[in-house]
Order: sequence, then structure tokens, then C-alpha cells
Amino acid sequence: MNKLSVKGGKKLKGAVKVHGAKNAVLPILAATILTDGEVVLENVPLLSDVAVFCQIMCSLGVQIKQEGSTLTVCANGLDIQANPDSSLSQRLRASNLFLGPLMARAGRARLAFPGGCAIGSRPMDYHIKALEAMGASVELTDGCIDAVCSGLYGAEIYFDFPSVGATENALLAAVLARGDTVIKNAAREPEVADLAGFLKVCGADIRGAGTDTIYISGVKALHGGSYQVMPDRIEAGTLLCAAAITGGEILLCGYDGQSLAALLHKLHDCGCLLGQTAEGLSLTAPERLKAVDIRTQPYPGFPTDMQPQMMALLSVAEGATLITESIFENRFRHAGELARMGADIKVVGEVARIIGKPHLTGAGVEAADLRAGAALVLAALAAEGESQISGVEYIDRGYQSLEQSLSALGADIRRIKL
Ligand code: UD1
Repeated sequence: MNKLSVKGGKKLKGAVKVHGAKNAVLPILAATILTDGEVVLENVPLLSDVAVFCQIMCSLGVQIKQEGSTLTVCANGLDIQANPDSSLSQRLRASNLFLGPLMARAGRARLAFPGGCAIGSRPMDYHIKALEAMGASVELTDGCIDAVCSGLYGAEIYFDFPSVGATENALLAAVLARGDTVIKNAAREPEVADLAGFLKVCGADIRGAGTDTIYISGVKALHGGSYQVMPDRIEAGTLLCAAAITGGEILLCGYDGQSLAALLHKLHDCGCLLGQTAEGLSLTAPERLKAVDIRTQPYPGFPTDMQPQMMALLSVAEGATLITESIFENRFRHAGELARMGADIKVVGEVARIIGKPHLTGAGVEAADLRAGAALVLAALAAEGESQISGVEYIDRGYQSLEQSLSALGADIRRIKL
């Protein structure tokens, strides 16, 4: 149960590199279960969620070797009778991504209802509907999803909402299914396209990933291959916000901001100067940020995973802001903690109204989930005095040594080991 201690008021300045994307590497790791032969994954972020995910895979008989940010994975020894450990899979929502691959490879799966950050009810109905359309029988018993099939068959799948996880699970199930699958109203997130990119390297036949209609023609088998995981756009966005909230300057080395367009437009409207060159993406903040309104939406709209960080930033901007959270129903739990630091925030239903203050004040605060934790770190960087942030284990789920990246930019931040 570590804490982060942050002494605010330092303008961040400098250049940093963005790590590999958590939300891309987890589905790609799940996809390795579908392959025969060795897979080499590069640019893998060292995160607690990745460690837990690998632990579940090893308990299923998958072999994983790690050397720095490179993982070598071989799923030839997959035990088709084994089930993902329920105490581990309840720890992360992304464990739902084992459903599609296990159905394709083993014809059965029993998975404890996945956990993860408590940002909403996060049901599994779209995942289940997609698998049923492909020929699976699914039952919910004792808090578990029990699924069986005698082969998966290509199908037309339509999602009422473009769920990222359900799109990925459907894609994972479809690549080895007999016949053609079409996923309509698919999630367009870049991480879905990255998963498809990996599957194609291994021999899958996929078209349209990254758009709202994905076409998959099932193949008999997937082989091994090498793949570099895309950079983490949410880590990139968080670092940009860290520079912005402190009135600083940052260069994200070698980073291409295309997949962050919605955030970059908002930061521009706040008064930040942004530049994209061969060196990377740069941001120079104004003395005082201006308020802007935000509405979270599926990609390419404003990402819900950047909403808490923007709330921190807008707490010190000049003017009034409305933030509408339209993806998750319980994603304002950072608002109360930001208020402890002096922020003026009122939440009614899915809308938060913020009146920007010239300053926040350091305080003892607690992260309630991953991105809420990042928001508190950002607020602490801008606040007068010292803040102590507990719930660091949430931050470690999705940021590889955030305090090191921020220290390298001049922040006064250190981890207190309790
Ligand atoms: C993924 C990301 C998470 C991000 C989210 C939205 C990973 C590992 N996590 O989560 O960081 O915040 O996308 O961009 O990639 N829904 C249903 N039924 C379902 C599935 C989803 O109603 O079967 C609803 C959810 O409750 C939520 C919305 O759809 O309101 C979006 O969820 P989804 O896109 O599935 O998020 P995740 O894949 O869980």
C-alpha cells in the first residue's frame, strides 16, 4: 500500500518516451492463445495488469519469457481443460478477453465474472451475444460465465453500442471460426486495429479493423510471429496534461498524436500550443489555461480514459466547464477528492460542472481507480504545498513508473513505501 508524495508548483519541462499501450497488449496477449508457434511481443509495458494477465495465461499452460519490454509467448502447451484462476481474473476486467480465444481453441470456457476498476456496472451481454451468434451456448452460474461450443461458425454480429472489449472478443473468436464474420457497429479504437494488426501478422484474414464494420474470414490455424505493441495514447495524454496543468513544456519523443486528436483539439482550445514534427509531439502551455467543455464518446470522440485528467486540469482553468461522461455511469469518483484540494466541482448525474480556481492546495487524497489516480497526481503537481496520494496500486495497473517519467520532467514526486 504505497503512497505518492508530490510537492506541487514546479513547471514540468523536458522530453519523455511513451511506453507500450496497456489496452493493446492485453488483447494481443489473449490472442497469442490462438497461435501455434512462438510469438515475440516488443514494447510491452511493465504494468501490474500485464503481470496478472500473464500469470493467468501461465496457469493455463502458456509459456511466457520476459526480457525487459520483450515477451516471448508459446501457447502450444495450452491445457484445454483448465479455467482462468477466478481470484486473479476478478482482479481485472480485461480477463473477459480470454473468452473468445478459449472458445476458439478449447471449445469451452469457464470464467469468473471479470472485475477491474469500479467505474460502472460493466456488463458482459454484448460479449455473450456475439459468442452465441457464432454457435456457443452460454450460461451464467455461481458468478461465472460458462460457455461451450462444438466449433464456432462465422456470423453477422451487431452491437447496440461499440464496446471495445466485445469487439475484441468477437474478433478473437472469429479468426479461427468456420466461414465469414461481419461485426457491425464495431468499436473503432486504435487498440482494436492494433489487435487486428497482430492477428494478421499471424495469418488471420481481417479487413476493416479501426472502422465500424470489420470483416473476418476464418482460417484453419494461426502461426507465430513478431509484433511491436502500439504506444499508449492514454499515457501520452496524461503526460501532456501534466505539462499543461503546470504551465510547462513537453516533447513526447517519437510519438505521433493522430490517435489523440480529440484531446489535442481540447488542449489547443485551452490555450496550449501543439506541434507535431519528426522528433515527436510537443506541447507548450499558456500561463493560465482556459475552460472548455468535454463530452466523452467512443473513438474518435473524446476518450473516457482521459476524462478524470481533464477534470483536474479544468479545475485550475479560467472559466466554467461542463464535463459530460457518457460511457461509464460511475466515473466521477475523483471529483470529491479534487474538491478536497480546493476544486469547485458539482456533479449531477452524468454531468460535472467545474468553476476553475487560480490555485489548488495540497492534501491527502485517495485514488479510487486507475485514471482517477492519474487525475489526483496531476492536480497535486499544480497544487500549492504537499499532497499524499494513496491507492497507488491503481496507478500501477496502467502507468509504468509514472513518478519516474514525471521526475524526469522536473516534478517533485516520490514514492513512499509503507
Ligand atoms: C475498454 C478499455 C477501458 C476504456 C473503455 C472505453 C481495455 C482493457 N479497457 O474497456 O480502458 O475505458 O474500453 O473506452 O481496453 N457494455 C455493455 N455490455 C457489454 C460490454 C460493454 O453494456 O457487454 C457497456 C459498458 O458498460 C460501458 C460501455 O459499454 O458503458 C463501454 O464499455 P467497453 O467499450 O466494453 O469497455 P471495456 O472494453 O470494458
